[in-house]
Amino acid sequence: MRFDILTLFPEMFPGYLNASILRRAQEGEYVRVNLHTIRDYAVGKHRVTDEPPYGGGGGMVLKPEPIFAAAEAAIAQGQAKTGIAAVPPIILLTPQGRPFTQSVAQELSQQPWLVLLCGRYEGVDERVRQHLVTDEISIGDFVLTGGELAAMILVDAITRLLPDVLGAEDAAVSDSFATGLLEGPHYTKPETFRSWSVPAVVRSGHAANLARWRRQEALRRTWQRRPDLLLTANLSQADKQYLAVLAQET
Ligand code: ADE
Repeated sequence: MRFDILTLFPEMFPGYLNASILRRAQEGEYVRVNLHTIRDYAVGKHRVTDEPPYGGGGGMVLKPEPIFAAAEAAIAQGQAKTGIAAVPPIILLTPQGRPFTQSVAQELSQQPWLVLLCGRYEGVDERVRQHLVTDEISIGDFVLTGGELAAMILVDAITRLLPDVLGAEDAAVSDSFATGLLEGPHYTKPETFRSWSVPAVVRSGHAANLARWRRQEALRRTWQRRPDLLLTANLSQADKQYLAVLAQET
């Protein structure tokens, strides 16, 4: 999968993208991340990328010309490199976008190529939204200084869903949200730490009991922390019975 990221601050990216699983995913050529500096596409001696808004109101607005030029260059390069003729989705990261969730990550992981546009300051000129961008995504109801962290979050959440990026052991299938539930607790060695022991069922080696316990703990945690998720989760008859037990307890 290919990501082209359009940003005023490419220096924000390498630390996060070049470590751990994202590094391995790039080395293994499962994913390629190309950074494009919007300022490189601005013209004039000062390469101005932002101006005050028409009509006043404070703050600065990103100008359309360098953003269109950067996007068009990134798309032309990508088409030449990949042989993909279609224009990829062009996603603006903005608090006004549709909420980013695990199912949006899954949806986007089906694409061979995405362009991510990082907004800054008060926002981008509306013509970018109307005539360039094809999708807008928010990573939550808070305002960051720009879209760069949001873009890295998309790259991370999408990359780990790509086939073979995670090893079998940390496969994404049992993730919180992939199942519609939060994950239950995990334990590792030592068996007893400061008198706190790992539950017997976890150490028992009894696969069926362990699977039932894990499912029940996932239900318990979701019930306690995110009951809203239970409305859309895929629940068996046994799950519903266990939830009834939890409801009795509280
Ligand atoms: N840019 C600034 N805040 C943002 C948010 N919450 N999500 C995506 N992009 C942003």
